[in-house]
Amino acid sequence: MIRKPRTATTLHLRQNTAMLSFADNVIRWQKQSGRHNLPWQNTRDPYRIWVSEIMLQQTQVSAVVGYYVRFMARFPDIASLASAPIDDVMQHWAGLGYYARARNLHKAAVTIVEEFGGVFPKAHTDVWSLPGIGRSTAAAICAFAYGEPLAILDGNVKRVFARNFGIEGDIRKKAIEDAMWEIAEREVPSKQIEAYTQGLMDLGATICSRGTPTCLLCPLRDGCIAYNEGRIVDLPGKSPKKDTPHRQTKMLVLISANEVLLERRPPTGIWGGLWSLPEVAVEADVLAITKAKYRVKLSKGRRPRPLPEVEHGFTHYSLTIYPMEIAVAKRNDHLAEPGVMWLNMDDIAGAALPAPVKKILQRLTG
Ligand code: ADE
Repeated sequence: MIRKPRTATTLHLRQNTAMLSFADNVIRWQKQSGRHNLPWQNTRDPYRIWVSEIMLQQTQVSAVVGYYVRFMARFPDIASLASAPIDDVMQHWAGLGYYARARNLHKAAVTIVEEFGGVFPKAHTDVWSLPGIGRSTAAAICAFAYGEPLAILDGNVKRVFARNFGIEGDIRKKAIEDAMWEIAEREVPSKQIEAYTQGLMDLGATICSRGTPTCLLCPLRDGCIAYNEGRIVDLPGKSPKKDTPHRQTKMLVLISANEVLLERRPPTGIWGGLWSLPEVAVEADVLAITKAKYRVKLSKGRRPRPLPEVEHGFTHYSLTIYPMEIAVAKRNDHLAEPGVMWLNMDDIAGAALPAPVKKILQRLTG
């Protein structure tokens, strides 16, 4: 068969990518095709960069942007975050998930004020010592804010390394992780660390995705072991799947006129400090609990109505929520307790609620 000769342009590009180092390919790709105009980019302010890195942990860019802009408007600097009530911080995080991140952000802001004179630390080890900041996040902050050539290694970057360098084994195992840190350090370029760090993250999140990577658009394709050996689906190695525990709960949706009853959750645990629907055990007698605990009068002849269930995944378990709608005829307003409020159903969209709770209520309002 006679092959059509490659055009000069493709030939030129292919030769180039093969000749460039791993870092140079990442940097070149980031400049041409990476993300450049997100609200936390084009700044050297370590505070703005820190908040973005925390929000972006396990959360997609598209979900973060709105939260980030609102958070920055309310807490524009370390001092305003450190002096804010934790409840206020939690309200700004409501719906974003992994709430320990918000509690640690606040704790770290207080630490910076108390131990670093209110100035974000410069040394990688000092940054790393703050609550909620691991080695990789500290390195990313120092790279973006100070141009320090430090290695990063998060879940997405591990996948890029496993495929590109053909690293076998479970990437969550300590030995494999240690080997990856060595590679991460070896590949760090001495210049343009910002573009390299952002490029690695962007490649891992977009091109080199878990399920269906778009290798044909990848700048590392020529040198990628997994691609060249047809092992993209095998790398990174998977760990034996552990069954995550499954939990169930019932939520009470007490409706009075056009308002729904919310309860503030305890400060620790899931959704700590957020307003949410009252929760009871699945086997609980919801009518008895409603009457005893909230002392409301229920609408005659109206049985509790089961609403469609909602599934929610946490890191360590999955949760099925069975919401029960209960019509309230008369409230017990003189017994207004702190930690209980009635929210107008028209205000649900803008309310700071855990994502699955908002979903339940938004389904009700259509
Ligand atoms: N994930 C963590 N940090 C990120 C960043 N700066 N850009 C995109 N995704 C990220």
